[in-house]
Amino acid sequence: MDLDELVFHPWVTQGPRDVLTLVGGSGSYVIAADGRRYLDFSSQLVFTNLGHQHPRIVAAIKQQADRLCTLAPGHASDVRGEAARAIVEVAPDGLGHVLFTTGGTEAIEHAVRMARAHNGRPKVLAAYRSYHGSTTTSIHLTGDPRRWASDTGAAGAVHFFGPFLYRSAFGSTSPEEECERALAHLEQVILLEGPSTISALILEPVTGSSGVIVPPTGYLRGVRDLCTRHGIVFIADEVLVGFGRTGAWFAIDHAGVAPDLMVFAKGVNSGYVPLGGVLVGDAVYETFTKRPYPVGLTYSGHPLACAAAVGAIGAMRDEDTVAAAARLGTEVLGPALAKLAESHPSVGDVRGIGGLWAVELVRDRETKEPLVPVGATGEANAPMTAVLKACLGRGLVPLILANRIQVAPPLNVSDGDAAAGLAILDEALAEADTFLG
Ligand SMILES: Cc1ncc(COP(=O)(O)O)c(C=O)c1O
Repeated sequence: MDLDELVFHPWVTQGPRDVLTLVGGSGSYVIAADGRRYLDFSSQLVFTNLGHQHPRIVAAIKQQADRLCTLAPGHASDVRGEAARAIVEVAPDGLGHVLFTTGGTEAIEHAVRMARAHNGRPKVLAAYRSYHGSTTTSIHLTGDPRRWASDTGAAGAVHFFGPFLYRSAFGSTSPEEECERALAHLEQVILLEGPSTISALILEPVTGSSGVIVPPTGYLRGVRDLCTRHGIVFIADEVLVGFGRTGAWFAIDHAGVAPDLMVFAKGVNSGYVPLGGVLVGDAVYETFTKRPYPVGLTYSGHPLACAAAVGAIGAMRDEDTVAAAARLGTEVLGPALAKLAESHPSVGDVRGIGGLWAVELVRDRETKEPLVPVGATGEANAPMTAVLKACLGRGLVPLILANRIQVAPPLNVSDGDAAAGLAILDEALAEADTFLG
């Protein structure tokens, strides 16, 4: 029997699946059960920032496993402290403490709970076109259609439009106009909802899985100012874009502002052992020096996950991974994807930064009608299925989300491997072009 059928799979209808069985990995490649190697342009779910089997992370996990595999959170632990120090050192100023969780969504839950306990207000603002996780609060904050099936309307979430020039909600024609209008809109939402009812505002500083949207210059600074003015806790969700993905340690660094709370996961240890967390700013930390933080987690600060983080951050420093990611964007992926857009009529837009890009596919460049409708499956999703098959058949694992190919290889991918992957994308886009009317 196919053992995969015993596993209940997230996001999909259950039943037999036609997917790769992967048994190994090395650097930017994964290895299938039949021995075939595939170049991984997805970093799995955008978390293997240092690729597979990085020797430094593997050694750190092994050494910790030999010493002490596990420990309750109530005890002090050297490796937990070292992981916290490594994370705080690369984070924006003023974020001096770390609550560890086992992943991104738990960290979002905790950040929101901290904010509400801090200022005693109920609501949380979040952007449309966002993803914040799958547990109750985080899926309600999620602004894209992944929320719909779980939405009970009861989590205090209020959504607003962030800037997105390609599909502007404000009819803007320039980044400057989009920035100004998006901030004016956000201010209206805050004033009409009632500032005294809004505990926090959560934002991906570069939107990840909902479309790779890089905000215009000035937007994040404007959000910071609005939050400060109205006593709203600014939560940056860096789960996908943190730890080098955008060519800075954190995506919010591009704007030179600091949030009050910052959520991370994925790239913190390239996902080798599940780990997430909340970087806690001084003001919120102060609240919990006067009363206990009222909730906890059995595996908060798991030693194997923390050891992996110390190994990963050390490797990123020594190998200059953040600078490599920036160069990957400006010199490799950015120019090559722009060229693909010129030659393939199905490409409506190419956008991104560092090691995170989106190729958005449309039926018509004028109308911008997406190549497949929202939530498409089966025949309606045939164009994206064809792109997927074209990639896999040529030895590339792509990340396909809705009508987009999201390009997110490991940040240390070689130029040669990147070029090989881009050549395969070129051929796969020719498949997409055949679906245009
Ligand atoms: C921006 C963002 N926030 C939160 C999450 C949830 O993280 P996790 O899947 O580790 O729970 C994700 C996952 O992709 C994410 O991209």
